[in-house]
Amino acid sequence: MVKPRGSRILVDLLAYINPLLFLCIQTHDMEGIYIGMNLDFGSKVYWSPSSAITSHIFIVGPSGSGKSVALSTLSYRVVEKFKPVLTVFDAKAEYHNLFKASDLKLNEFNPLRTPLPLCFCDDSKTSFEQNVTTFLKVFSKIYGISPSLYRAMYEGIMYICRRCESVERLYDIAEGLEALNDIAEIFEVYPTKDLNHMKSILNGNTVINLRDVFLRSTALSSFIIYYIVDNILRNSSLSFSSIPQRVIVLDELWHVTPYIIDELTQILARYSRGYGISFFMATQNIDDVGVHADVVTSSSALLLAMASPVHGYWNKMAKYLNLSRRGIDRAVKLDRQGECVVRMYPYENPMFIYVDPLDS
Ligand SMILES: Nc1ncnc2c1ncn2[C@@H]1O[C@H](COP(=O)(O)OP(=O)(O)OP(=O)(O)O)[C@@H](O)[C@H]1O
Ligand SMILES: [Mg+2]
Repeated sequence: MVKPRGSRILVDLLAYINPLLFLCIQTHDMEGIYIGMNLDFGSKVYWSPSSAITSHIFIVGPSGSGKSVALSTLSYRVVEKFKPVLTVFDAKAEYHNLFKASDLKLNEFNPLRTPLPLCFCDDSKTSFEQNVTTFLKVFSKIYGISPSLYRAMYEGIMYICRRCESVERLYDIAEGLEALNDIAEIFEVYPTKDLNHMKSILNGNTVINLRDVFLRSTALSSFIIYYIVDNILRNSSLSFSSIPQRVIVLDELWHVTPYIIDELTQILARYSRGYGISFFMATQNIDDVGVHADVVTSSSALLLAMASPVHGYWNKMAKYLNLSRRGIDRAVKLDRQGECVVRMYPYENPMFIYVDPLDS
């Protein structure tokens, strides 16, 4: 990533104005990751995921305000410090570029080029059942199917897997079900478990390129995200860990919320207490998470509201940020990309921060 011009000048200027504070805080926080500059005190601000009961991050802000830059910056710094496995759902194919300034090694996974496994022909019956049940759980959540179609699909897919037939045979099970056109393109029946590409997502830092899928259908993109997240959660060893073991970056959250917001909020709440799984999410408007705004914001140890000149936006965000009337008047004046109001657990008061992005 080419570091946006002016950011270094701002950081240097703040350090110049208040060098003592800058030095103190800079050298103190050994536990945390660097976020950026406190706009009031000129001090460096750190966030320590291990000191919170949850380590999810939620970023809200208008288009172009710096959400993706903030997500990539924070996730890189968490990966660098705590070495979790990173999975990025990249709806705009921009994350390779955003991480360019870092030394992060990332696999790329594109489900249109490397289909996801529906099942493996050499697998056990129990594994078939497990795979098909997961597939149908996600399928019925996204596309909504009747119990009788569910049963027919279950039997049909089990038949295909047992006989090691092509996914195209899905069309025979539910003729005219349009969603199957999409599904047949991103799933495959693999002859052997050795071809389990999901392993590379489970074990290594991966950017999942969803751009073409996302442009075609947000339902399909949501399907892939939910399916992969479900696999990740099922394969994680849920031992207690106060530091992030796995970071899942979910940018453009708005596009999945119509399909899976209730599942997602359950996941956020369930994995908030010490399981080492962190979701780093961003969306344009708090309304994107609808009635779940309370759960999503309270499950997030770090809440960032990026700059916006719109009063209504801050009025809505105020209660989640503990932002006073005066705070709102101040927030409206933030106008640079990367500037934001932050509520960081366990601090009660919001902070005005400039997110210092990765170096070029
Ligand atoms: N912290 C920052 N400091 C300086 N410039 C920044 C910062 N964050 C973002 N920018 C600039 O703003 C541009 C837009 O940022 P970004 O893509 O992160 O916005 P966004 O909120 O994700 O937008 P969208 O909702 O359209 O995805 C970047 O390309 C960069 O030039
Ligand atoms: Mg973005």
